[in-house]
Amino acid sequence: MSVLIAPSVLSCDFANLARDVEMINNSQADWFHIDVMDGVFVPNISFGFPVMEAINRYAKKPMDVHLMIANPDPYIAEFKKCGAEILTVHFEACTHLHRTIQAIKAAGMKAGVALNPHTPVSVLEDLILDLDLVLIMSVNPGFGGQKFITNAIKKVSDCKKLIVEKGATTLIEVDGGVNLETGKSLVAAGADVLVAGSFVFGSSNPNETISALKLL
Ligand code: DX5
Ligand code: ZN
Repeated sequence: MSVLIAPSVLSCDFANLARDVEMINNSQADWFHIDVMDGVFVPNISFGFPVMEAINRYAKKPMDVHLMIANPDPYIAEFKKCGAEILTVHFEACTHLHRTIQAIKAAGMKAGVALNPHTPVSVLEDLILDLDLVLIMSVNPGFGGQKFITNAIKKVSDCKKLIVEKGATTLIEVDGGVNLETGKSLVAAGADVLVAGSFVFGSSNPNETISALKLL
């Protein structure tokens, strides 16, 4: 299977949202990566339900929603209503993570867990069989355009090992500082999905950049 590409809408031009969503629709991208930040779990605020609803009206591909919010449980149903197909919560933000994952699935979505750069993959040993996706953060969450943390490559290998050992079917996604160079090492280590924000939207031809990533 070729690597899946999920452009991060965080780096698009919000004054031309429909145009940028249409670009992703017409590209080889597989998913829309939607970064929701609350200013509590991370030191930044991005956007919430009304913007997601607007994206959903135009998006013709699955919405992969990355919640960087404290205590996501009360909002699970609302994210489903706004069109989330995959809902990922942070390990560091959920006290009762197993319960949260079951609630996401019961709401009819695929469930993911994101790990901050300091959190080892081993914390997922007893949960991996319940997960559709593990999101390895290769930057500290909160902002686009940051420098890639190389240790993420080792964490992808660790995660792949865990998935194989347990006989799980979980996908490994990586988010932060992804470009053609870092992306190549991540795919070699076992990444299934690459998120890319500034590398796609900061390029002169985002559509071609997505195609180039897709070839990794
Ligand atoms: C960071 C977000 C990322 C971000 C990636 O907190 O989760 O999805 O948009 O941006 P780049 O690709 O620019 O590092
Ligand atoms: Zn993200």
